[in-house]
Amino acid sequence: MSATLIDGKAIAADLRGNIARRVADLSERHGLVPGLAVVLVGNHPASESYVRSKSNLAHVAGMRSFDHRLPASAGQAELMSLIARLNDDPAVHGILVQLPLPDGYDPDAVINAIDPRKDVDGLHPFNSGLLANGLPALVACTPLGCMILAKSVHASLAGLEAVVIGRSKLVGKPAAQLLLAENATVTMAHSKTRDLAAVCRRADLLVAAIGRPGMVRGDWIKPGATVIDVGINRLPAEDGKNRIVGDVAFAEVRDVAGAITPVPGGVGPMTIACLLLNTVTAACRIAGVPEPQCMSSAG
Ligand code: GUN
Repeated sequence: MSATLIDGKAIAADLRGNIARRVADLSERHGLVPGLAVVLVGNHPASESYVRSKSNLAHVAGMRSFDHRLPASAGQAELMSLIARLNDDPAVHGILVQLPLPDGYDPDAVINAIDPRKDVDGLHPFNSGLLANGLPALVACTPLGCMILAKSVHASLAGLEAVVIGRSKLVGKPAAQLLLAENATVTMAHSKTRDLAAVCRRADLLVAAIGRPGMVRGDWIKPGATVIDVGINRLPAEDGKNRIVGDVAFAEVRDVAGAITPVPGGVGPMTIACLLLNTVTAACRIAGVPEPQCMSSAG
């Protein structure tokens, strides 16, 4: 039997629709227009495409978006001074510095310089610390999207065996914290985990955030499990274009799993929708206006 496909594209479109309605309401009732600043340093091709989508979809949702492009040669000091200006700008409620930064930059120093109230990536230690303590935080967008997708399959995650592969600050660690907050039994696996296949076979819910194309095989999956594939790996295709594949060997895994996210069209669209959600949440918190409860998942 083939697994149910979790349609991230449709779920993200639905979320963006809710966000656009909320943005219109904020503007009408409170004169508040959420503003998102997106900073791209250098010209990493995949990052350029992500950044364009983020700005476009912010506009479509009725927000302001402020694009800042710096050449890779700009240097740490110029980037830090841009962050300081964005921190002070009352029209900006969310700041996202696209990662990875070019060589020669210190990403931790950059992230630590962002006002935690505007840290819509949820990467500042203040926000990751709040999350780890089960307190309201701005939560990293990709794991937030993964949770919404997991909850589209499971009304409750309480008591489920969840395995997260990958321990990055951007995905694995916050995903594990969010799952724990939902009362799942969480295992964090990583490159040094022994017998990863056996660990994965325990999972009712498997989140793969490794960055290795097709690494999770069909015989790693417990029959009926839910599989969330965070991987976005670009492989050269015969026609000269890139083909995007996940961290999961989709054709094998879909025959064993109960539900699975496709790549593309699964987690990817959720990341941007959650960025917009975090920007609305940040704007409401900064302005002291009630937050969007109906779609709130940000802590
Ligand atoms: N690069 C890949 N994913 C992300 C993300 O969620 N946020 C930022 N800032 N950079 C990224």
